[in-house]
Amino acid sequence: MKRNVKFMLSLLVLTLMSCTSDSEDDLMETEEPNGPVTYNANIRAIINSNCLNCHSDPTRNGAPFSLTNFQQVSTRADNGSLSRAINKQTGEAGAMPPGGRLPQTTIDLIDQWIDEGFLEQ
Ligand code: HEC
Repeated sequence: MKRNVKFMLSLLVLTLMSCTSDSEDDLMETEEPNGPVTYNANIRAIINSNCLNCHSDPTRNGAPFSLTNFQQVSTRADNGSLSRAINKQTGEAGAMPPGGRLPQTTIDLIDQWIDEGFLEQ
């Protein structure tokens, strides 16, 4: 009986691992050709197309700060609020962007950028 449970658990773990590596493969093809993720190469374009409707300079629609340059974005990468906001589910308080969650590969890429120390270039 115990054996069986262990077997089921390893199956589950394997399944989860294969899902993770699938999405990493997608990521490599579409958004991360070589080397570390950087603000200039990867992150700026994501923020520009998904966040600057509101986090512009000056801000619109009640956004509390701008996200128009590296310094402003890396401040929120550093204090944890960027990752927290993009990982919330649509409709949760503080979920960003408020209109609908980013694709998971995009969220993963931003989190990777943060984990790698939010490089500018
Ligand atoms: C439709 C307008 C709008 C868009 C688009 C938008 N935001 Fe926001 N954002 C707001 C408003 C309004 C607040 C303050 C109220 C709140 O937290 O819900 C906010 C707050 C935040 C906060 C602070 C959250 C906290 O808990 O302190 C972060 C970080 C943030 N936004 C990041 C982003 C990012 C990154 C994007 C793009 C992926 C984005 N926002 C897109 C309007 C927007």
